[in-house]
Amino acid sequence: MPKNQQSVWAEGTKVFMIEQNLLPFQYQIFESESYAETCRAIKEMITRGAGSIGAAAGFAMMQAAFEAPVNQYTEFIRKAKKEIEATRPTARDLFAATERVFLKAMISKENAAEEAQKIADEIAEAGRKIGIFGNELIHENDKILTHCNAGWLALVENGSALAPVYEAFRRGKNIFVYADETRPRAQGARLTAWELNRAGIEHAIIPDNAAAWYMSKQKINIVIVGADRIAANGDTANKIGTLEKAICAREFGIPFYVAAPSSTFDFECKLGEEITIEERAEEEVLYQTGPDDNNILHKIRVASPGSRAVNPAFDVTPAKYITGFITEKGILKAEELIKLKK
Ligand code: MRU
Repeated sequence: MPKNQQSVWAEGTKVFMIEQNLLPFQYQIFESESYAETCRAIKEMITRGAGSIGAAAGFAMMQAAFEAPVNQYTEFIRKAKKEIEATRPTARDLFAATERVFLKAMISKENAAEEAQKIADEIAEAGRKIGIFGNELIHENDKILTHCNAGWLALVENGSALAPVYEAFRRGKNIFVYADETRPRAQGARLTAWELNRAGIEHAIIPDNAAAWYMSKQKINIVIVGADRIAANGDTANKIGTLEKAICAREFGIPFYVAAPSSTFDFECKLGEEITIEERAEEEVLYQTGPDDNNILHKIRVASPGSRAVNPAFDVTPAKYITGFITEKGILKAEELIKLKK
């Protein structure tokens, strides 16, 4: 069973994850017995969010090492690595994890298992520290805007953007969170709201297009978002819609922070324009899934029949709009990110 509030974990060579596609309506654990199943789970967003994807990818590499036939050990693992890396191209944590576990798998499968667990533990611990540093930015009576879901569901445990919120709440600060709905998959309305409800933190879901209005009315004091990949210069890929929040925050003089563990920073990527942006199926825009009165889930079309859709999953916010980066090593300006380079 998971520890309290853990999104992905391994027991032996089995990988478990909270089925996030069913939240907040149903709580189910998905169990994967092979690297191929874990790949499918990442692609279909059973687990999602950069940190959780990274942990799952590390565990998938570990599964591949245990599945690999002795006489084709290296080829098998190399092929598995490619397959895992093809699941979600934007999340840096995924590639950081596959690389680390691959190198250890070249020593032994036991080493691979140890490394995969270490990655998951490091991500969780980074979230805890992000909470402690980020709490200093949150003041009594603050109204915080966040986009998508960068809570514990997205980061193994603790979260990135929500970690400072949890910490401020634990310390007794009176706070309020606006959760952007985050179309098309509604991670804000479904997952962030679910997390905040469970934690007892006061919040409201707002339509994606309401944030500028609330900012203009001084109803938002600070914006904190997560990240999927951060280039060396600080340009940040995060869920589609982040860019417009950042531009609006600048217009209204509201601090805009990105919270992420160092595993999300990609120092080989110099500028945001080099980041690959995942394009997802048009179905996610054209259809929505929700429960009827008997809690049976149904998928319904919400767009004009016959129309097509396009669905970029992320956008890139230029570093110039970002007030600072909340990391497990402290709060840094874009010019200081080099300190995170190992
Ligand atoms: O497509 P997703 O849900 O995997 O997107 C990732 C995200 O949840 C966000 O972009 C998030 O803000 C950063 S992940 C910690």
